[in-house]
Amino acid sequence: MPTLVIVGAQWGDEAKGKIVDVLAQDAEHVVRFSGGNNAGHTVIVGDQEFKFQLLPAGILHPDATAVLASGMVIDPKGLLDELDRTRAMKPELGTLRISGSAHVVFPYHRLLDELEEEARGHNKIGTTSRGIGPAYQDKVARIGIRMCELVCEKRFADRLKEVLAVKNRLLAMFGKPEIAFDQLFAEYSAYATRLRPFVQDTDWFVQEAVIRGDRVLFEGAQGTFLDLDHGTYPYVTSSHPVAAGACLGTGVGPRAIDSVLGVCKAYTTRVGSGPFPTELHDNIGEQIRQQGHEFGTVTGRSRRCGWLDLVALRQSARVNSMKGLILTRLDVLQDIPTLKVATAYELDGAEIPYLPADIEDFAKVAPVYKALPGWTENLRTVRKVEDLPKNVRDYVAFVEEFTNTPAAILSIGPDRAETIIVRPDLIW
Ligand code: IMP
Repeated sequence: MPTLVIVGAQWGDEAKGKIVDVLAQDAEHVVRFSGGNNAGHTVIVGDQEFKFQLLPAGILHPDATAVLASGMVIDPKGLLDELDRTRAMKPELGTLRISGSAHVVFPYHRLLDELEEEARGHNKIGTTSRGIGPAYQDKVARIGIRMCELVCEKRFADRLKEVLAVKNRLLAMFGKPEIAFDQLFAEYSAYATRLRPFVQDTDWFVQEAVIRGDRVLFEGAQGTFLDLDHGTYPYVTSSHPVAAGACLGTGVGPRAIDSVLGVCKAYTTRVGSGPFPTELHDNIGEQIRQQGHEFGTVTGRSRRCGWLDLVALRQSARVNSMKGLILTRLDVLQDIPTLKVATAYELDGAEIPYLPADIEDFAKVAPVYKALPGWTENLRTVRKVEDLPKNVRDYVAFVEEFTNTPAAILSIGPDRAETIIVRPDLIW
């Protein structure tokens, strides 16, 4: 099984960075397929902590190719800063390839992200303010500037002039001053000079790798319920974090994908606005936040914490055709006497087994809980599934049975070593 998609099964921040880093040890290519520097992936190796926003976490493996594929939106300054920072910590990195079809994030996207949020008043989405939504809007409106145009000396000036004319009219409507062409052109031309050697047709590269039978890991960002079509719209991001996004965002068809694993926390978190049925507003929520250091990598915002929502996870398993689950942060649930998991929703007096599509209905649902016994043991030194406390194994078994999806990997701490591979056959 040489191709594997890793997706976030919830609302993002499921510890995908750590998992991709572990799995990338066996991959020849790691391909990030959606989003931009709204993502924040943390990888801890020994006493070094790496924080990635645009680079695939697989860049840490010198023998691998790290691809930023066509479905992404790329902030060139953010990318270069990240590359310099990572190289300073670890000089030997994987080979970087950037898709010429990926779209470029400009300062006007970040500015419009903030202005649009402000205009929404108390219906704010709670975006990361990285210009992600406005950059994807330009892509869909067919006026976006792509990486292949940024690095083309002949075309970049004309494209930027053309787009700035539109953006400056929009900024005027918000009462904001014009963005001057000369300064922006000079700044982005300097980024282009540094990025040019990496920009190419990565669709072809990835297709060839798949045909050769190389091991390709498709790295997702964000999470299933932040998907533009399958998430809790409008409280979503503007791209496709679901497994199908790996095809759309890289140029391979569905039959090129052999396995899909969904990364899921042993509880639920969410950053930004939007309904969250199992959210906890009590001491247990605070305990999870503190034990799990649940503060955003990108914005530093405190994450909303709650019980594991199995209604959502089962839906996620279906949307992504998951072959297996990667259950992370089991260690964080230590010392909670009784754990709860949502097994249905109650909506207007009736029980429903799925997430209602209408956000107003979703905001009204009340979770129906199943209580499971917790544990007091520290799990971080355990290395074999059979050495886990019985209550942990029972918790995992309940999740597997309810979602009809076997656990492939359990993560019991942030370090690479704190990982239990349960079903190697589901991975590669
Ligand atoms: P945007 O992607 O910045 O437009 O933000 C849209 C929504 O997605 C907001 O609720 C963000 O908090 C959320 N979001 C975006 N990226 C991530 C992520 O990597 N992890 C968790 N939430 C995210």
